[in-house]
Amino acid sequence: MKILVMNGPNINMLGLREPDLYGNQNYESLCNQINAYAEENGIEVAIFQSNYEGALVDCIQQAYGVYDGIVINPAAYTHTSVALLDALKAVSIPAVEVHISDVSKREAFRQVSYVRYYCEKTIAGHGFDGYIEAMAYLKEKYGE
Ligand code: DQA
Repeated sequence: MKILVMNGPNINMLGLREPDLYGNQNYESLCNQINAYAEENGIEVAIFQSNYEGALVDCIQQAYGVYDGIVINPAAYTHTSVALLDALKAVSIPAVEVHISDVSKREAFRQVSYVRYYCEKTIAGHGFDGYIEAMAYLKEKYGE
């Protein structure tokens, strides 16, 4: 099966940004863990990160007919982007929302998630493991 893992703004700053919330490992390490899990489990994975909302929308649109599942951490766009929600609805690919930190225990403005209206499941506060859990969920439900 083919899974697209998407990350929004500032996820490329992992390791540097607020390590108390997001840990000490960098973005490359996150990608390595995702790729290793995919390889061990017969998943074809592509990883995309952008700081631009439109680029993330383009990426979701281009996933149509290509990927069987999407793992998405929209980062700050989680709390603002109807465009990402609409793009997910448009392509209708099964998706799981992931957050490294436990957004439910953070500021009031982080309690809204637009993509959650579409995603089958939200995994938050499990660190990098959340991405692996999301891939495992999609593989179990939609994999051959
Ligand atoms: C985040 C949580 C968001 O509120 C924040 O804007 C991020 C990262 C997380 O992974 O915990 O950039 O999505």
